Amino acid sequence: MIVLGVETSCDETSVAVLDGDGRVLSNVIASQMKAHAVYGGVVPEIAARAHLENLPSVFEDALATAGVALADVGLVAATAGPGLIGALLVGLSGARALAFARGVPLVGVNHLEGHLFSAHLSAGGQPAREIEYPFHGLVVSGGHAELVRVEEGCIVSLARTRDDAPGEAFDKVARRAGLPYPGGPVVDRIAARGDGGRFALPVGRAGDGSEDFSFSGLKTAMLKQFEKRGLDGSPLASENLPQELADLFASFQRAIVTALVQRVETVHRREGIRTLALSGGVAANSELRATLSRWGTENGVAVLLPEKSLTTDNAAMIAWAGLLRYRRDGAPALDSVVARSRWPLGT
Ligand code: KG4
Ligand code: ZN
Repeated sequence: MIVLGVETSCDETSVAVLDGDGRVLSNVIASQMKAHAVYGGVVPEIAARAHLENLPSVFEDALATAGVALADVGLVAATAGPGLIGALLVGLSGARALAFARGVPLVGVNHLEGHLFSAHLSAGGQPAREIEYPFHGLVVSGGHAELVRVEEGCIVSLARTRDDAPGEAFDKVARRAGLPYPGGPVVDRIAARGDGGRFALPVGRAGDGSEDFSFSGLKTAMLKQFEKRGLDGSPLASENLPQELADLFASFQRAIVTALVQRVETVHRREGIRTLALSGGVAANSELRATLSRWGTENGVAVLLPEKSLTTDNAAMIAWAGLLRYRRDGAPALDSVVARSRWPLGT
């Protein structure tokens, strides 16, 4: 079975080809980062148009790199939500046309479900890791923060963000300091030479006894720190920041990582996590990866980290989640696969 995956939910146009064992034969990603960077965030209309422009060449590149013909494709899987509706429609419509023309099934994939299973994939041509249920998943990206329990055929949400997603907090705080977009990788690099223990910043809790995350208090605390230091959003050179600012960003990153790890710990005490799969763009963060791995070793939990190339949006994870769904549920009627801007995990 050759699976073709299509991802266009946000600002990455991606097409991937996988075989039936989950080997990634190709995973081509055209990033629109530069087009959006001048605005400090993703502009939906620009994203949709760029997907339309990029999709044909990304698609041909993915087939050529994988060395497969269109006639070999037995299943098409495309992100159907959640995401920017105009952006989603481009990839999903293309995928639907392809499935119709070739007479093969189409599966509409939940983007978050794609992230959730991405730690099981290898980017280097190895078959996917066998999935042992139940496992716990922590999806942390620019749009989402969610801790879930994954059982065979069922996803149970245990905690989610009440306001900003962690990636969003990285991006917004970096932007207000005058650092380039996206802020996550920039802060990650700055924090590497800072002292994360120097500033005490609020670690987000929803404050109602639930396990939900909240990052808005942390964001506000950071903005106050910037005001105090006269940072008004004028461009900052990230390579030679004063040590005090490097320490401030390191402390900010520490607060986000601490919030995430605390919740994992609470759920572990309650449900006894055996396997934790980390995923999403923020899963590329060095401190989060190191801290969770250490925690896993100390607590006898297998922590699965996605390869860095599979942390941000990509079609390989969509093809993989689509294949898993197809094996369990078969394919729905072509015209029942529709794009949805909102689509909570597990529904
Ligand atoms: O999963 P993704 O590509 O898109 C969404 O579905 O949101 O995640 C993008 C997010 C951005 O907010 C970016 O700043 C963040 O992931 N990110 C990071 C790192 N690399 C990307 N955040 C922290 N540390 C990183 N190294
Ligand atoms: Zn994503």
